[in-house]
Amino acid sequence: MIWTAAFLVVLVSCADPEDYCYDEPSCDPYSWGESFPLCHPLLELHHSPINLDHHMIRNDSLQPLHLEGFEEVQTGHWTLENDGHSVVLRVGSGMAVSGGGLPGTYHTVQLHFHWGGPASNGSEHTVDGHRYPMEMHIVNMKSIHPNVSAALDDPTGLAVLGFFIDVVYADNLHFGHISQKLSSVAHKGQTAKIKPFPMMSLLPKHNMSQYYRYQGSLTTPPCSQAVVWTVYEVPIYISWSQLAQFTSQIFSTEEDAEQVTPLQNNFRHIHPSSGRTVLASRDATLLTGTAAPPPRSALRLLHVVTLGGIALRL
Ligand SMILES: *[C@@H]1O[C@H](CO)[C@@H](O)[C@H](O)[C@H]1NC(C)=O
Ligand SMILES: *[C@@H]1O[C@H](CO)[C@@H](O)[C@H](O)[C@H]1NC(C)=O
Ligand SMILES: *[C@@H]1O[C@H](CO)[C@@H](O)[C@H](O)[C@H]1NC(C)=O
Ligand SMILES: *[C@@H]1O[C@H](CO)[C@@H](O)[C@H](O)[C@H]1NC(C)=O
Ligand SMILES: [Zn+2]
Repeated sequence: MIWTAAFLVVLVSCADPEDYCYDEPSCDPYSWGESFPLCHPLLELHHSPINLDHHMIRNDSLQPLHLEGFEEVQTGHWTLENDGHSVVLRVGSGMAVSGGGLPGTYHTVQLHFHWGGPASNGSEHTVDGHRYPMEMHIVNMKSIHPNVSAALDDPTGLAVLGFFIDVVYADNLHFGHISQKLSSVAHKGQTAKIKPFPMMSLLPKHNMSQYYRYQGSLTTPPCSQAVVWTVYEVPIYISWSQLAQFTSQIFSTEEDAEQVTPLQNNFRHIHPSSGRTVLASRDATLLTGTAAPPPRSALRLLHVVTLGGIALRL
């Protein structure tokens, strides 16, 4: 009862439900649930991201995914866009993923990135509590669905491939396809055309059989629990300067904004596994560490109880 009352109040008080952010208390990931009910961690259990740890079960039937069209140069052009929350590369038709235990064929729609700041890491998933500098998500939609809203209503409507990004001294020349265009999409709303390149050239091609699998959610609003996650064990490597392009040269504000705000730390906090099974593919390394990030659920509970109090007084 209290929960329902609190919920109605926050729904009504929300001015612009399309708005979310990472850096202000009024719209950061801890308050997304107030505008986007599915983001609420107490009402919905299977959230992403999670910390990958030793609670994992090997499943030998998880062999490499079939990545159709990833080795080829697709026709047409792709579009890079700063949507104010990330840098998104929209790819045309021609690529699809299947196999590796996925329940169907999924067409590749886009890829995008999550990052930290000049002195902090920003992957979404963590490994034994370790946060990588960045994470790339390749988003694929189950091909039986005519549109995204239909896919979001299916618990396995999307298949997202997650890749950690780590840093080394040398530039990643393949990653240059994206880095070269980043300055054209520095501000929110800006787009740039990109000549298609073989998607596989971005990926750790010798280690595609090493991955972790679990059932989770979108890590951005509306946080729909519609994602079969495949998180690859071996990272992609880029240089420090390629990383810095994301952490200090991308802005969440439009070009003509009075105050320019860098887009940084665009990752959602870690959520509990809540009884979910995380599977390790046949070739993945099982994790042994026990380090885990501090739980935030207690803080969240306090927040909701406070809102419940407000609702009861009204
Ligand atoms: C292994 O994974 C497959 C595909 O996801 C599943 O059908 C099967 O039940 C799993 N086996 C075990 C022992 O978990
Ligand atoms: C951030 O990433 C760097 C490079 O991989 C790593 O050396 C460092 O330990 C990471 N920091 C944290 C707090 O995980
Ligand atoms: C998406 O597809 C479903 C199922 O065919 C349909 O009912 C719905 O109207 C479509 N929604 C939009 C926004 O096109
Ligand atoms: C990546 O794959 C290669 C070839 O199978 C293997 O030798 C190497 O150990 C793998 N790297 C990691 C970090 O597991
Ligand atoms: Zn993402």
